Amino acid sequence: MTSSKHIISVQQFDQERIASLFKRADVMRRIDRRDAREILRGSIMMAIFYEASTRTRFSFESAMIRLGGSVITTENAREFSSAQKGEKLSDSIRVLSCYGDVIVLRHFDKGSTKIAALYSSVPVISGGDGPGEHPTQALLDLYTIFLERGNPSAQHVVFVGDLRYGRTVHSLARLLAMYKTRMSFVSPEILALPEELRTELGELILGEYRSLADVINHADVIYMTRVQKERFSNPDAVAFNGQDYALTFELVNFMEEHTIVLHPLPRNEEIPDWFDNDPSAAYFRQAQNGLYVRMAILEELLNPFHK
Ligand code: NCD
Repeated sequence: MTSSKHIISVQQFDQERIASLFKRADVMRRIDRRDAREILRGSIMMAIFYEASTRTRFSFESAMIRLGGSVITTENAREFSSAQKGEKLSDSIRVLSCYGDVIVLRHFDKGSTKIAALYSSVPVISGGDGPGEHPTQALLDLYTIFLERGNPSAQHVVFVGDLRYGRTVHSLARLLAMYKTRMSFVSPEILALPEELRTELGELILGEYRSLADVINHADVIYMTRVQKERFSNPDAVAFNGQDYALTFELVNFMEEHTIVLHPLPRNEEIPDWFDNDPSAAYFRQAQNGLYVRMAILEELLNPFHK
């Protein structure tokens, strides 16, 4: 696997590469639609998704089409690919990579995108590997923090919800660590941060809490997540008070005025709809930023003229 070609983990990025990616994302936001169509004219992106997706797949597809390329896609690869006939992921990827220029893969197994990269002759972009990582989501989350709050080094980011299985949390926390961002984590014990990640983050962890109320007044960025119910064999066995990990009407009063609220979406009960009109609610702007960041990522991987 050549690390510069595939996007499997945020560990493949450094601050310099991220800065140049975000500069291009800024350009993508403003570029004339006709000019954008010339950037990857004729390229083909294949999106193969073994797990449900709305934002990741649609934004990647929209990004490719806006850049002048085409897309071939299956949104339910468990049923509508040869996986249903017992084909191994490695064989599917080996064959797919003969048909197009880049593969976006979402799979339910941690480590699957790394395996796919070993068998692909074209770049593989992870769209999430089970409870592992979701690098492009973390990049758009970080881009949103830069836009809305400025330098991540100066922020205190509070992660809330399913820190154990939330792959976006794992990727974003690793990315923020590169900027020495201070972080706090709020979850029930059963959904706490994986030990391995806790060790990686070390002194950047300011605290771990069992209720958002304990730390909300010190947050610059609040990163909410839903419980990843699909990762549990018996979701009903996961019992805790959801209100401790939700933005309630009372809690919002304790937030500082400059605090922003992010969420990779989809949300469940952790953010009530009435909060959407609050200027701090940045999650739909965050989802839109995903389009520009993914345009920049595709350009970086596929445009030979891009330095
Ligand atoms: C997330 C994911 O799939 O990991 N969604 C996304 O890509 N925006 C978060 C989630 O499913 O909870």
